[in-house]
This record gives sequence, structure tokens and C-alpha cells, in this order.
Amino acid sequence: MCPWFESRWYHTYDKRTSVRLLHFKPLMESTRIPSHVHIDPVFSHLTDWLTQHNPSSVVVVSDPMTEKWCLPTLTPHLPPGTQFLRLGQHGEKIKSLEHAHALWDSFDGMGMDRNGLVIALGGGTITDLSAFAASTYLRGLSFWLLPTTLLAMVDAAIGGKTGINFRGLKNRIGTFATPAGISIHLPFLDSLNAREMANGWAEHIKHTLISTPDAINCSWEGPMEQAEPAAFLHAIESSISIKSAVVDQDFEERAGARKVLNFGHTVGHALESWALSKDLELKHGEAVAWGMRVALKMSEEHPACPRVQTGAFDAVSRSIARLIPLPCELPSADVLWDLMCTDKKNTNGEVNMILLNGAGQPILNATVTFDAVQHAIHNLPSG
Ligand SMILES: NC(=O)c1ccc[n+]([C@@H]2O[C@H](COP(=O)([O-])OP(=O)(O)OC[C@H]3O[C@@H](n4cnc5c(N)ncnc54)[C@H](O)[C@@H]3O)[C@@H](O)[C@H]2O)c1
Ligand SMILES: [Zn+2]
Repeated sequence: MCPWFESRWYHTYDKRTSVRLLHFKPLMESTRIPSHVHIDPVFSHLTDWLTQHNPSSVVVVSDPMTEKWCLPTLTPHLPPGTQFLRLGQHGEKIKSLEHAHALWDSFDGMGMDRNGLVIALGGGTITDLSAFAASTYLRGLSFWLLPTTLLAMVDAAIGGKTGINFRGLKNRIGTFATPAGISIHLPFLDSLNAREMANGWAEHIKHTLISTPDAINCSWEGPMEQAEPAAFLHAIESSISIKSAVVDQDFEERAGARKVLNFGHTVGHALESWALSKDLELKHGEAVAWGMRVALKMSEEHPACPRVQTGAFDAVSRSIARLIPLPCELPSADVLWDLMCTDKKNTNGEVNMILLNGAGQPILNATVTFDAVQHAIHNLPSG
């Protein structure tokens, strides 16, 4: 397992390349989990909050999988009169305006007022959708997140972003909203298969690569399906700490530090949007894993990353490919590029990406060209 560090970030300006560098400054090895995030074996933080705030109504949003695997564990801890919104579908397609509309409709039908609480029980799609619906209804209801996938525990539930997809584009509409609380209940991971665990591991690898100089020596391969859920606790805590440190810094300095969390996502989101349009089964972490591999290869060639030699990231890239293989074919580089041109981080018509001038040294806003993307895709090291 890689070491990780409590983070502080600082900027320098590289005169030679005219690039602003964002540095991660290791301070000490410790865990800093925000106070509203709880490792919650018996949901005591949630039940304490319910006792203290006595919400006028409580509604739990689940999908068919979390209804089956997670709701029975949660139900005994809920107050009498709790209502249940069980979505008929699961996966990326629920992050839609139609599903948000259905939740608003149900809140209306239940007579939800501003003292109500929405509990999101699910992976990143349920937490993104429910938090979006709650944060917009009556200008903002309280909501509590119960992430049930590794991906949601290490990333999606953390950091206060909500969202739905729109017109085939990922997370096009959303809000920033802080949940009343987040409970990480490790036994929820018991019912996830190895592919879902690897999917979550992708975002953990992202956090490690952007923050930890030693990440270059990491190998993340391991028998996912054999690992005890508790073995993931360290990864979950370190990811929460790294992401929270980045988000805090972003709020404090308004300098856009949060963009580093998009490492692997410019290409990853383009691939995901394409897969969505083709109705292909591609998971967010799988798209991001491939996007990170492209970004690592591009870092080796980009002038903003002078410290990185050609091939420097090949071992890490191979390890990612073996752990999180792509389950589907790829579109052409032209199709990907068109989708990358719609990315929210772009400025002045230029496509910007997060690259790495070495592990733990992310470069914000590196302007990239179609040729560079195509070259990187063609030169990815095979798994
Ligand atoms: N808001 C953010 O900051 C942020 C960050 C990262 C990712 N995301 C979003 O998260 C989403 C991906 O999240 P995800 O990978 O958790 O997808 P998901 O919510 O679709 O969950 C994956 C699958 O696992 C099932 N599932 C969930 N919990 C289960 C359990 N305990 N046992 C068995 N099956 C279970 C779900 O029904 C689904 O089929 C993407 O839409 C992505 O954009 C958001
Ligand atoms: Zn992501």
C-alpha cells in the first residue's frame, strides 16, 4: 500500500513553459477525515442526527440493487413513518432530468417541507441524483449520504458536488451542496463484485497519483475479490482525506485547486459520454482508468511536464490496465476529441487537461492538441 500524506497545495510558476504548477506538499502521515464523514458500523451518527433534529419527514432513495442488498440492514435504524422511494432502474441512466423530476414529484406527493431529510442509499449515481434533487427542492432540503459502492465511498459522496447528465453529456447540470452527514458502512461492500471494486479503485488510484510522490512505485494489482472489506478501509480513509484537503483548499483560495480531481476525467468523461450514447456497459471508474492512462502518456510528451521521460509512467499504466481493463471497444480519436471539446474545463476554445509532471505533481490547465491525444492513444503500453 502506498504511503499518503496530509496535504497542503502550493503553486509555482514555471517561466520556461509558462505553466502554473500545483504542488502537493507532504506534511505528515496522518488521517484527516472531515467531521461530517463517519465510518459508521451501526449508523449511530445518522440516528443521533435524527434524534437531535427530529425531521418532519424522512425519505430513503434506493435503486433495485441497494434495495435488495443494503436497505434491509438500514431499515431497523430508521424512525417510524420513514418513506421509501425505490427507483425502478440502476446505473448511469438514473442521473437524468426525468429521474430528478420523479423525485421532486414524490417529495411533493409526500408533502415534504424544509425540515425533511432525504437519505441517499446507493452508489455514486444515487448519491449524485438524490443530492441534486434534495439540494434544489424548496431551495434545499437536508440530505444524508449512505454510499454503498467503493467508488462512492472514496469519491462520489465526498466533496459536495451533485449532478445529473443532460443531452448525453456527463454532469451537465448540478449544484454544490454539503450533506448533513455521510456514513461509510463497510459491510455494504460485501455484495459488490470484483468489477465494481476495481471500478472504485480507479478513483483511489487517481487520488494517490495526484498527491503522492511515491505513487510511481505503486502497484495496485491484487486479488480484489479475495480482499476483506476492512482491507479497503485504509484506501477509503486516505482517499477521503486527500479529496477533502483539495476541496477545502479550493474553497479557501478559490484558485481552482479542485480541478486536479479531474485527472483522467477529460478523456474519461468523453469516453463515458460516447458509451452512454451507444448504450454500452462502461463504468465510470473504467472510463477514468483509461483516461488516466492517456493522460499519463500525454504527460510524458507534454512541454509542461519536463521532468517526465518517455515511458516513465508505463509500469503504472500497465498496472492500471490489468486491474481495471476496458470492457468495450473504443471510439476513434476524432469522436473522442469532439466530445473533449465540450468539457467544462475548457477555456477560449482550447482543450485543457490535468497532466502530471511526476507523481504528486499535477499540472492544471495544460492545453492539449488533437495530435497529442491521438499519439498517446496509439502509444499506450499494453496491459
Ligand atoms: N459527485 C462527485 O463528486 C462524483 C465523483 C465521482 C463519481 N461521481 C459519479 O458517480 C457515478 C458512479 O458511481 P458508482 O460507480 O457507484 O455507480 P452506481 O451508483 O451505478 O453503482 C454501480 C452499480 O452497483 C450497484 N450497487 C450499488 N451498491 C451496491 C451494493 N452494495 N451491492 C450490490 N450492488 C450495488 C448499483 O445498483 C449499480 O448497478 C458516476 O455517475 C460518476 O459521475 C460523482
Ligand atoms: Zn470520477
